Amino acid sequence: MEMSDPGALDALERALATVIDPELHKPMLQLGMLRDLAIEGGVASVRVVLTTPACPLKDRIREDIDAAVVGVVTGITRVEITWDADVSTTRGLPGRQEIAGVRNAIAISAGKGGVGKTTVAVNVAIALRLAGARVGLLDADVYGPNVPIMLGIRERPHAAPDGKMAPLEAHGLKVVSFGTILDPGQPVIWRGPMLAKALREFLYEVSWGELDYLVIDLPPGTGDVQLSLAQSMPMTGAVICTTPQDVSLADVSRGIEMFRKLNVPVLGVVENMSGFICPHCNERTDIFGSGGGRDLAARYELPFLGAVPLDPRIRGADGDGRPIMAAAPSSPIGEVFRDVASHIAAQVSQENFSAAAGPVMPSGPRLPVAS
Ligand SMILES: Nc1ncnc2c1ncn2[C@@H]1O[C@H](COP(=O)(O)OP(=O)(O)OP(=O)(O)O)[C@@H](O)[C@H]1O
Ligand SMILES: [Mg+2]
Repeated sequence: MEMSDPGALDALERALATVIDPELHKPMLQLGMLRDLAIEGGVASVRVVLTTPACPLKDRIREDIDAAVVGVVTGITRVEITWDADVSTTRGLPGRQEIAGVRNAIAISAGKGGVGKTTVAVNVAIALRLAGARVGLLDADVYGPNVPIMLGIRERPHAAPDGKMAPLEAHGLKVVSFGTILDPGQPVIWRGPMLAKALREFLYEVSWGELDYLVIDLPPGTGDVQLSLAQSMPMTGAVICTTPQDVSLADVSRGIEMFRKLNVPVLGVVENMSGFICPHCNERTDIFGSGGGRDLAARYELPFLGAVPLDPRIRGADGDGRPIMAAAPSSPIGEVFRDVASHIAAQVSQENFSAAAGPVMPSGPRLPVAS
């Protein structure tokens, strides 16, 4: 079979038209996700353009494409897939100013302190980066900015050529933190208007460049920072972190309600410190129990994004400025964070898809509006 055989190409296109995106539930061809179809010898090739490089369903998509083509289209024995991604963009909201170049902003939140927001934010950001996305990390915890310590950042920010603040770089992330402009050990009392102004500067007066994801580490609870951020910018969504011993669901519920009122989609729930993995024998013990996060997600009809075990290696890795995702990305804990990051990225894609504007596919067809 020749590359120039239009009949064969038509048959390939008809076969691929039956492949449905497992998450968006629409034909991938129609969504502009299957491009550059070609046939050479008995081998078909296709470029699959996903809405995130951290797509958790690549294996499934590969199987579906194989099943649709091999043994169906005469003469084709194999499909060669080139993976590509064009990360979808959050729809703008009236009255909210977009951050130039930033496609999606994901807030990591929790009802109370110490449940692992920063740990999740930092490791998820690195996992998205390792998947190939362009990622920024904004440490918006004005009361206890821990990101610089966790990432081993000691410099202070300087001006970019465009006169804005240049983000610092660590582990491939573009990082901006209140911790790098405040004097360590110097308590800062933020008054409302001053805080709002400082936050706006961190969003709009930073030379972020092109980012697929801006991960935002929030302070605990439902205070001024959450309000300020959600009211200034179009936020793609918020991730809720909780622990199994978070007996007081009231705080968590307050957070979920707040985001819903502010029109910020809640992307799902991560349960942190879920069971203990012994570093010596890798056996798992449910010290504080587990499943609370899953129950919470079910109760609010939210996606459950994953359970991160209590593992001393997570804490150990924090101290030396190399989070576990950077120090040991292929470790079992690395796998866990990779999964959580993939689930978050998938939710972001779905959120953007179901928002009327749909993902931006510059070179593909315009997406139909999801019902
Ligand atoms: N799964 C885990 N296993 C072991 N240690 C963890 C885990 N998650 C977080 N920690 C440790 O618990 C402490 C608190 O975590 P972290 O700073 O991420 O929480 P936080 O919610 O951001 O807290 P804060 O409200 O103070 O900002 C840190 O020392 C961190 O290393
Ligand atoms: Mg924190």
